[in-house]
Amino acid sequence: MAKQLIIMLLPLLLLLFILSEVVEGTKKSYGVYDKNSVKLFVFGDSYADTGNFMGSPSYKQPYGITFPGKPAGRFSDGRVLTDYIASFLKIKTPTPYALRNSSTLQNGINFAYGGTGVFQTLTNGPNMTVQIDSLEKLIKQNVYTKQDLQSSVALVVNSGNDYTAFLVNNRSITEIKSFTTSLINQLSINVQRIHNLGINKVAIGLLEPIGCLPEITLVTFHLSCVDLLNLVSEDHNKLLLQTVLQLNQQQVGKSVYVTLDLYNAFLSTIKTMQKKHDENSTLMNPLKSCCEGDGLTNTCGKVDDNGEKKYSLCEKPKLSFFWDNVHPSQNGWHAVYTLLQSSLHQLNYR
Ligand SMILES: *[C@@H]1O[C@H](CO)[C@@H](O)[C@H](O)[C@H]1NC(C)=O
Ligand SMILES: *[C@@H]1O[C@H](CO)[C@@H](O)[C@H](O)[C@H]1NC(C)=O
Ligand SMILES: *[C@@H]1O[C@H](CO)[C@@H](O)[C@H](O)[C@H]1NC(C)=O
Ligand SMILES: *[C@@H]1O[C@H](CO)[C@@H](O)[C@H](O)[C@H]1NC(C)=O
Repeated sequence: MAKQLIIMLLPLLLLLFILSEVVEGTKKSYGVYDKNSVKLFVFGDSYADTGNFMGSPSYKQPYGITFPGKPAGRFSDGRVLTDYIASFLKIKTPTPYALRNSSTLQNGINFAYGGTGVFQTLTNGPNMTVQIDSLEKLIKQNVYTKQDLQSSVALVVNSGNDYTAFLVNNRSITEIKSFTTSLINQLSINVQRIHNLGINKVAIGLLEPIGCLPEITLVTFHLSCVDLLNLVSEDHNKLLLQTVLQLNQQQVGKSVYVTLDLYNAFLSTIKTMQKKHDENSTLMNPLKSCCEGDGLTNTCGKVDDNGEKKYSLCEKPKLSFFWDNVHPSQNGWHAVYTLLQSSLHQLNYR
């Protein structure tokens, strides 16, 4: 009896041994993550970046004061869109690409980099094409398998740096329509590439109302948004929606691309907050930034040679919509996120 037990136990032990080897193996060679867990791959700019832009204001005081409590690479006082989308998917925020060697890749990777665009807007920042190249390389290195990607979600956020670069380069607003066409054209190529790499759900952010950004509403003393610029967003979004519709029609029996209507979510949140502000002037004007620079440029986070702050902070960042003159605060993003729920439910990947 005892002898038999040993004989029966031996294969079990062997099996255990083999299994533990396999588990060890997966840790070392990546790739075979928990098949049932979703991964989030993020492409875009500062609205989605959670730590890729070392040396930028996002790594300086007072960024991050609400979450995680210190500057950590987010262009906000706290959480940004990526964090909320990850929480919707019930996973932790994916690791920023810049920190890929020192952190888990289990939840995906965030390639988004503040200041970048679909086209080259920064001298030293990966445009969206380069961000997608980075994922492609990781796939070639078997860091992620086909299975990993099939149950993954991509988030693509392009919030206007291309337009800023276009206008700064001394081009006129009348040329913007044709620029929008080429921008959406490239964006369409990008999202198709992401899908062709094996990701079956791609969430694409519509352009926020750029005429409502505090750097713009400065000209109305932060009393109202600038309609002329909101029209640029509207034209952009109209074309993007048409394009996404066509792309989905090419997919038989499945809907790969989902749009996140940041335009209306921003506008609607701002309107609600404006109404409250009108009734109670101690509440914050949503068109003003909490971290105010001392001029036309965003100096939130800057100190001069004497260590003097070049910015001032509002009393309650948690009541603001905008953190600095272009980026929503955590409160702003949270409010926007709650309005995106019905679109996010279309990301049901199972
Ligand atoms: C991560 O590791 C790879 C391969 O060892 C290396 O090429 C790359 O430079 C490292 N990246 C960072 C950001 O440390
Ligand atoms: C993105 O950047 C790369 C490298 O700088 C450049 O070769 C490429 O043309 C850029 N792509 C677009 C669409 O601007
Ligand atoms: C911008 O365009 C105007 C008119 O075409 C020209 O006079 C001016 O020099 C340009 N400025 C720059 C910085 O290129
Ligand atoms: C206005 O808002 C402040 C701050 O939230 C609050 O303490 C105060 O009671 C409000 N006043 C009125 C009249 O609602």
